[in-house]
Amino acid sequence: MNRSLLNLIIDLLAATCLLAMAATGYVLRFPLPPSTNRTHELWSLSRHEWGAIHSWASLGLLAVLVVHVALHWQWIVTMISRRFPHTKGTAPVRPGRAGVVTVAALLVLVGSWAAVTHLGVREREIPLHALSAPKDEMENWSNTPATTRPVVSNAAEIISVDFGRDVMPVFEASCINCHGPEKQRANFRVDRRDDFFSLRDGKIPVVPDDPDASWLLPIISGELTEMKSAEAHRLTPEDIALIETWILEGADWPVDRVNGSPNP
Ligand code: HEC
Repeated sequence: MNRSLLNLIIDLLAATCLLAMAATGYVLRFPLPPSTNRTHELWSLSRHEWGAIHSWASLGLLAVLVVHVALHWQWIVTMISRRFPHTKGTAPVRPGRAGVVTVAALLVLVGSWAAVTHLGVREREIPLHALSAPKDEMENWSNTPATTRPVVSNAAEIISVDFGRDVMPVFEASCINCHGPEKQRANFRVDRRDDFFSLRDGKIPVVPDDPDASWLLPIISGELTEMKSAEAHRLTPEDIALIETWILEGADWPVDRVNGSPNP
């Protein structure tokens, strides 16, 4: 094949990959922003699948660029050696040897990245899906059917909070792994009523009617960054608003739910 035709084809492929990356990047940023993966789709593809196309386009671009550089290798080596003239007595740069060195350096780079990422993967203490588990799974805490639950977006919109229906499911989904029957981190249990209302280290987690005095709110809003596992305590703005409203409304916790025994 004619060399300049080959160059043209390679450049067209590069442009196609670049446009595909930009187009899918737009989809991932605007029409399907983060956290819409389970709930929305575009032309029957989820955010996750658009993300896969995005990364394949970027790998395609990388491959095309490698071919591009290979086609211009002789030129690149000549330009670089002209820019940095070799000192007297050393051999002139040979494209073949420079190619081997470059490929070896790239392999080391890619290999180290692979090793570092594989070794760095850790299992989450709380799986993400547990944090976002649908509240229907906590139905045993509630006497109210799921469909009549208010859709909460901020404190002002919450009409009225029900402990069993709204609050306990949050503790069940986000806290009980570390503060429940299995583990009792800091000797605190979310299924033990008294732990919320009694003095701990000079502070009370929940002071009914008084969110500002309630130590729990800075903990779950991530303000106490010096705390161990501060990130594990950070709840969504919706859940924080819900718990704040619950406290504001008097932090009702029916006595029949003491010690994690919901009404059957
Ligand atoms: C990944 C495990 C983990 C999760 C999940 C978790 N915590 Fe904790 N929690 C801890 C640890 C560890 C401490 C001790 C922190 C320290 O001493 O700095 C703690 C401390 C606390 C304390 C202070 C208790 C005391 O008397 O010192 C409260 C209150 C608390 N957590 C409430 C919660 C609530 C409410 C949730 C759910 C929104 C939650 N935690 C989720 C691990 C966790």
